[in-house]
Amino acid sequence: MLRVVVCVSGGGTNLQAIIDGVQNKTIQNTAIVGVISNNRNAYALTRAEENGIPNCCVSPRDYADRADFNTALLQAVKHYEPDLVVLAGFLVAIPQEMIQEYRDRIINIHPSLIPSFCGKGFYGLKVHEAALARGVKVTGATVHYVDEGLDTGRIIAQKAVEILPEDTPEVLQRRVMEQAEWIILPRAINEIASRQSTEPGSGTNTNKR
Ligand code: GAR
Repeated sequence: MLRVVVCVSGGGTNLQAIIDGVQNKTIQNTAIVGVISNNRNAYALTRAEENGIPNCCVSPRDYADRADFNTALLQAVKHYEPDLVVLAGFLVAIPQEMIQEYRDRIINIHPSLIPSFCGKGFYGLKVHEAALARGVKVTGATVHYVDEGLDTGRIIAQKAVEILPEDTPEVLQRRVMEQAEWIILPRAINEIASRQSTEPGSGTNTNKR
């Protein structure tokens, strides 16, 4: 069973897609063992609560400095003993210690076709605003592993989405979610889970490697 922690900051529609995927078995051999938000008011936490998923808030506001916050975030992740950490709209820079400790076990969903519209300053609605401003006709979403760079890790999956003439950033964001994010993120998790379940010694938490 792949133990997954999902990190969120906002509405949590990608978290919901993962919850739905586990429930309807399009994601197999997977348990969502925890949800972590940096934002106490994130609706994603309500989604976790409603689905009986252990959850917590680790907010930078509650710590004296970034180093203390980073330590607390890593502790919160470790507490759930995950095999995989999924960044589903998590708008916090991942601490270097966490990247090292969970190398190749952190994935992120980004709402563009990387390497377009990614990196510093490109998150949430800003990505779609930039795509519309540039006048591209196709955008999409990318699932990738997280490394030390911003949106630079190995790409796992991408899906293209058409941009229509009348699109606003909000309309485009919704289409990218519906036609790409909510499909490729659950699928990527299922593929990672299926690989893990066929590995020797599967069924055990590999966190302590
Ligand atoms: C999603 O569109 C996700 O791809 C994006 O934030 C949104 C979160 O929505 N993530 C990034 O921009 C990361 N750079 P959600 O809370 O409804 O899943």
